[in-house]
Amino acid sequence: MRQACVTLYPALLAVTVLFFLSPTLAWRPWPHNKTNAQDSIFGDSKKFEGSSEFVHLKYHMGPVLTANITVHTIWYGTWQRSQKKIIREFINSISAVDSRHPSVAGWWRIVQMYTDQTGSNISKTVRLGQEKNDRFYSHGKSLTRLSIQSVIKSAVTARTKPLPVNAKSGLYLLLTSDDVVVQDFCGQVCGFHYFTFPSIVGYTLPYAWVGNSQKFCPGVCAYPFAVPDYIPGLKPLKSPNGDVGVDGMVSVIGHEIAELATNPLVNAWYAGQDPSFPVEIADLCEGIYGTGGGGSYTGQLFNGEDGATFNMNGIRRRFLVQWVWNHMVNYCSGPNALDQ
Ligand SMILES: *[C@@H]1O[C@H](CO)[C@@H](O)[C@H](O)[C@H]1NC(C)=O
Ligand SMILES: *[C@@H]1O[C@H](CO)[C@@H](O)[C@H](O)[C@H]1NC(C)=O
Ligand SMILES: *[C@@H]1O[C@H](CO)[C@@H](O)[C@H](O)[C@H]1NC(C)=O
Repeated sequence: MRQACVTLYPALLAVTVLFFLSPTLAWRPWPHNKTNAQDSIFGDSKKFEGSSEFVHLKYHMGPVLTANITVHTIWYGTWQRSQKKIIREFINSISAVDSRHPSVAGWWRIVQMYTDQTGSNISKTVRLGQEKNDRFYSHGKSLTRLSIQSVIKSAVTARTKPLPVNAKSGLYLLLTSDDVVVQDFCGQVCGFHYFTFPSIVGYTLPYAWVGNSQKFCPGVCAYPFAVPDYIPGLKPLKSPNGDVGVDGMVSVIGHEIAELATNPLVNAWYAGQDPSFPVEIADLCEGIYGTGGGGSYTGQLFNGEDGATFNMNGIRRRFLVQWVWNHMVNYCSGPNALDQ
């Protein structure tokens, strides 16, 4: 992360010092700040779908999610049924057995190849758990990294239908609607994951936040279904489920779930020297969705008859999801790779 540290150091320092937090960030390739993890690790030399020699992804002996994973979703703010459906179907597709190749389940098989000290693999099963609606913005329309933990606390301690506390195999996914501002959203991150503090929430629970960028920065967080204004001539691609913000969120959700599974307490699988700034299995493949991807090129994708762009199939829908680092072969891979 050398290059990124130069520009981002002040912000990170502030976060660390003020809040004792060092969340793992989902870097985006856009806009001006081209500080995605891959660029930083590889320096200026662009390599084919990542590279092997310079990446030292290591296992740091911490736990990974080997038991059946249950994703508990908190819908913060205003969500339409159609939007929830797209995201639920993506999560349900992760362990679906009958989707067409190349499938979301095929993508997850790369994540499953990671193991813990005992040789146990990441769980094959990822399912939807109970959900919580936080329709009335319990902590306002502007959230910080810390108030995100308070939102999770409210969800697990609610008087009616609290989310179950499942520290062993539960993941808590906080999704904010397109009118919610979140600290560092758009400028630096589209999502991040970390774990909750017992002092705030009462438990140590792995969680992720992902925001709907539709209003504030679709060109950053829903790329390539929206493009930044300052790049003339670049045209957005048609999104597969007709909702640019949500179709863009799907890839970020995939990014965060893959990293939560392999690095839930930020002491398992990551690259880089600095544990407070780990480069994880999805960070390494940021912006790569197909063969040949890298830099600002997405790689080879599919075009549906309806003109929509995608790279994998779910149960009933198609999705565009970024690739993840395959530690058996030492490069980024996905189910739609042409050479595998
Ligand atoms: C885990 O999931 C599998 C299949 O999805 C199921 O057969 C098994 O019973 C589950 N195990 C537990 C402990 O829930
Ligand atoms: C479990 O992990 C090992 C080592 O990475 C890998 O060879 C194997 O294919 C994985 N098993 C499954 C079921 O993914
Ligand atoms: C680039 O990063 C710096 C430092 O994190 C930030 O202040 C600035 O707003 C970023 N620029 C853009 C266009 O996001």
